[in-house]
Amino acid sequence: MDNALIQKAANVLEENWKNGFTIPCEGLYPFQWNWDAGFIALGWMHLNPERAQMEIRSLLKGQWSNGFIPHIIFHNPSDTYYPGPKVHQASLSPHSPNIPTSGITQPPVLGFVLEKIHQNSKDTQASLAFLEEVFDAVFHNHHYFYTNRDPKGEGLVYICHNWEAGTDNTPVWDDIWATFEVPEYDLPRRDTQLIDASHRPTNKEYAYYIHLIELFKKWKYNDLLIAEKSPFLIQDPLFNSMLIASNKSLIRLGTELGRTDAVSQLQGWNDHAIQAMNTKLFDDALGGYIYYDLRNECSLPYLSSSSFTPLFAEIPTPQQAVKLIAHLKNGRFSGKNNERYLCASFDPTSPRYNSEKYWRGPIWINLNWLIYNGLLRYEFSDVAETLKNDTLSLIEKYGFYEYFEPSKRKNETLSKGYGGHNFSWSAALTIDLLTNTQ
Ligand code: SER
Repeated sequence: MDNALIQKAANVLEENWKNGFTIPCEGLYPFQWNWDAGFIALGWMHLNPERAQMEIRSLLKGQWSNGFIPHIIFHNPSDTYYPGPKVHQASLSPHSPNIPTSGITQPPVLGFVLEKIHQNSKDTQASLAFLEEVFDAVFHNHHYFYTNRDPKGEGLVYICHNWEAGTDNTPVWDDIWATFEVPEYDLPRRDTQLIDASHRPTNKEYAYYIHLIELFKKWKYNDLLIAEKSPFLIQDPLFNSMLIASNKSLIRLGTELGRTDAVSQLQGWNDHAIQAMNTKLFDDALGGYIYYDLRNECSLPYLSSSSFTPLFAEIPTPQQAVKLIAHLKNGRFSGKNNERYLCASFDPTSPRYNSEKYWRGPIWINLNWLIYNGLLRYEFSDVAETLKNDTLSLIEKYGFYEYFEPSKRKNETLSKGYGGHNFSWSAALTIDLLTNTQ
């Protein structure tokens, strides 16, 4: 059965491969996305390591001269997605490359993806040569974050757009949207024509997303102006956990490559970052990591699947880790009698929870993969096993959807997952879950 599922997943990646990079989903996402590329490379490394490298090289073609890596690289034209390159207009920035890109980023997964690809490689010499080729670019990206996005020198970097979080419409942002007004925008959305609109963000939310892009364009994507004026400025536990996990991987890879200066710089950033995560972003009463609104100087006290991702970067103390898993076993996320599959993307006990709507509740395979690997690192093997089994049963039942219903009872009557179908990272990470013991 595992082999059949791996073959189906391989077919999805093959279909979505566009001669040098992989689109996340036909129609819905027709370009190369940043963190998608990282997770997708983890599938290719098992099937075709050459393609894993090509995926990363393609992403780095979009890197800006200041180290920034955009969230979308528009390698190819397509009219099935809004907002496309004409809306983002990254060329307004003096740092932008020749290729069209967006001007916002996504969670920095490249560092730990590179390490996994290296560990999985059967040809050490070729793998080291590839690391030599790309190490500096990824290090430059981390340098960009710590020098441009941490204005108070706290060790935590900010995101300035909800699309940078990856968790696009999490209910956490409802509090932020309430702090400012936006004009009406013409929104020629394509997503809501391609899939069930009730599973996507609302037009009201999209007006906020586009408004932020319009502000950044007015400021020519200048980081100083964004830090000074953006109404959306958030310290995000998922984003910072990805950066910390990637720092750790770059420290190990840099040591292997003999990059002493880079390693000591990364070590300094990381020590500071871990301390800040555990003091500023851990909410003891809620028992989890939460977001901080840097613009309005307040914590946003909501649990989401992001709250558990620091496990992946081995950030929590053992006591903090115990508090985290309490939510996953007869707790808020699993339900008192484990009536939900793990792991809902937002606190199912909240009135803001919506089990069908994008990042307001449904299960996402990349978050499950991160939390699963994090739980293993803390030796919570029973919850890890539940999480893996839940993930694979949903995929086996429905196929490689973009997101899934958490309620076990509701799943009894469903015949499909939610969002896009034949979604690349769902396929890629299924391959990794079925291939790796860890
Ligand atoms: N995930 C976003 C979308 O839905 C883009 O980054 O369009």
